[in-house]
Amino acid sequence: MRADERIIFLKSELKQHNYNYYVLDKPTISDYDFDMLLEELIQLEQKHPEFYDINSPSQRVGGELIKSFKTVPHKYRMLSLGNTYSSEELRDFDKRITKLVETDIEYVCELKYDGVSISLTYENGELIRALTRGNGVEGDDVTTNVKTIKSIPLKLNGDFPNSFEIRGEIFLPHNGFEEMNKARISDDLEPFANPRNAASGSLKMQDSKEVSKRPLDCFLYYLLGKELPYQIHYDNLQEAKKWGFKIPSETTVCNSIDKVIEFVNYWDEKRLNLSYDIDGIVIKVNDLKLQDQMGFTAKSPRWAIAYKFKSEQVSTTLNEITYQVGRTGAITPVANLEPILLAGTMVKRASLHNSDQIEKLDIREGDKVFVEKGGEIIPKIVGVALKDRNLFSQPTVYLSYCTECNSKLIRTEGDAKHYCPNELHCPPQIKGRFEHFINKKALNVVSIGPETIDLLYSNGLIKNLADLYDLKKDDLLPFKKDGDKWANNIILGLEESKNIPFERVLFALGIRFVGETVSKVLVKEYHHIDNIINATKEELENVDEIGEKIAESVVSFFSNDENKTLILRLKEHGLTFEIGEDKKAISDKLLGMSIIISGVFEMYSRDELKKIIEQHGGKNVGSISKKTTFVVAGQNMGPSKLKKAESLNVPLISEDEFIKKIS
Ligand code: IVH
Repeated sequence: MRADERIIFLKSELKQHNYNYYVLDKPTISDYDFDMLLEELIQLEQKHPEFYDINSPSQRVGGELIKSFKTVPHKYRMLSLGNTYSSEELRDFDKRITKLVETDIEYVCELKYDGVSISLTYENGELIRALTRGNGVEGDDVTTNVKTIKSIPLKLNGDFPNSFEIRGEIFLPHNGFEEMNKARISDDLEPFANPRNAASGSLKMQDSKEVSKRPLDCFLYYLLGKELPYQIHYDNLQEAKKWGFKIPSETTVCNSIDKVIEFVNYWDEKRLNLSYDIDGIVIKVNDLKLQDQMGFTAKSPRWAIAYKFKSEQVSTTLNEITYQVGRTGAITPVANLEPILLAGTMVKRASLHNSDQIEKLDIREGDKVFVEKGGEIIPKIVGVALKDRNLFSQPTVYLSYCTECNSKLIRTEGDAKHYCPNELHCPPQIKGRFEHFINKKALNVVSIGPETIDLLYSNGLIKNLADLYDLKKDDLLPFKKDGDKWANNIILGLEESKNIPFERVLFALGIRFVGETVSKVLVKEYHHIDNIINATKEELENVDEIGEKIAESVVSFFSNDENKTLILRLKEHGLTFEIGEDKKAISDKLLGMSIIISGVFEMYSRDELKKIIEQHGGKNVGSISKKTTFVVAGQNMGPSKLKKAESLNVPLISEDEFIKKIS
């Protein structure tokens, strides 16, 4: 098959598989097979830049960096909705608008997704722009980031209008949110407060490659344009489903306000079973002609309204404040409540977040407190019944010593939380280090999970990361009935982890502020663990992307004798502590240069050239900018790249000239 035919085939296959997985939730191939097809497409497109396609499935992996988002006016204003909180208010709404048009009204009820609203513009079946709401008149252009969301089609199927907008909500499902926060905690970042903040933060990130790793999703609920297929809102949505959009299946037509209220009550109860947050129901007039007739007020359409669920609130007694020590040493105060039924579940505990929160609400043991469960999963205390307070009650004195290891707690400026500084000997922190060490992105020992860590730690088999490698099958067998396979897998997993490259081993050590990226930078610069151990703070600070905070943390980690012993033992066990031969630098002739490889070459393959660039200290970059030092141009270099290089005065050099530069 010719390359262009294969590219077309791969694009259409990948598009269908994305749709099956992210919209229909019914994948038909394995993740591995999908990745293979995608990789093949990426390779082919790189080899044939003439077939560049801005909406190819390969563009979903992101990569473009955005300094600041462009502000773009909305073609149709993005309005908000009026709110109601009771069935009486809904009946008033029905009466009000029925009177306006003097006819019975059919409604459409939709879930009100608690995320970030987005407006997508399609022209000739291709996504050309994605704007946030902004101030309603103009929004931020977040197209590059939105393209990484796999349930949003980049190209449409079937019979779609030439030009239209579709609006919806970008959100994070609960499981994705929890996973993301877990990863943030293990990277020493403050977790997001709720899925909405996480979604909105993700959309505003500057690196679309990072956005592509966030499990964002998008429901669409509103079409705008001059050539919509029907005059009925619901029918348009069903049609848009055929074009490839993720249209919610809960959306329901209701032919009376009683039916609307039934829908509202049903979801008020059932919303807790959903895998994402909703904060109400949106009720819309189904007939677009009637919508037109009713029009808008200054802020919102007259033909739609939101019903906001009340966050159920109950009052109960706060028996005791206890404290949890997290895997990173962060202290979380917990309210232990007199058990009470709230939104269908028995609530016994609520998070108090930090000492500021306790101070702000002046929460004290013995108080009668109000507990609320909104969209969020964890109940929260929203207030104290001060008039019921016991006369002799005293303000809460916050914890000063760790409940697990008795170390004096610290709180650094600008940090909301208190921390236990005893990283090496505080039990939850030790377990946290083990979990981080075996994590997929670190040493990837899938045969060991948190429960196994707990089991081995509490039975005294592992105290220090290196103890894992002293484990023998016979040590493990007593812990599990018929545990032969279990024990074998653990030993095998640990053995395999010895092949994990240096940068991931360094990341696995859990040095504060040394995440995946910093590990890569350090390994590229220093090549061997001994060089990192011997580097001074000043030397480290001189490395690109390493600041004072990181440098201090690295030096402090390696100046600790226990950590030095740990490295020695891990080395003896055969873990990788130096860079592979093929990645070692040969010279620094290209140091500080950003280089682009474009086109097809005679002597070397593109991958070989990229390796040569790295071996001589240069940086491979994907797209041309003012910062590009030069382009190594082969045959068939893409015309758009050529034009861009010329307009930015970026020099082009041949393969020959390039080889001369480094010899
Ligand atoms: S329709 C002119 N439908 O709620 C009407 N909005 O307060 C446009 N929202 O900004 C909105 N789910 O972000 C509509 N099914 C739904 C919705 C929904 C959530 C959000 C949306 C909007 C806000 C209005």
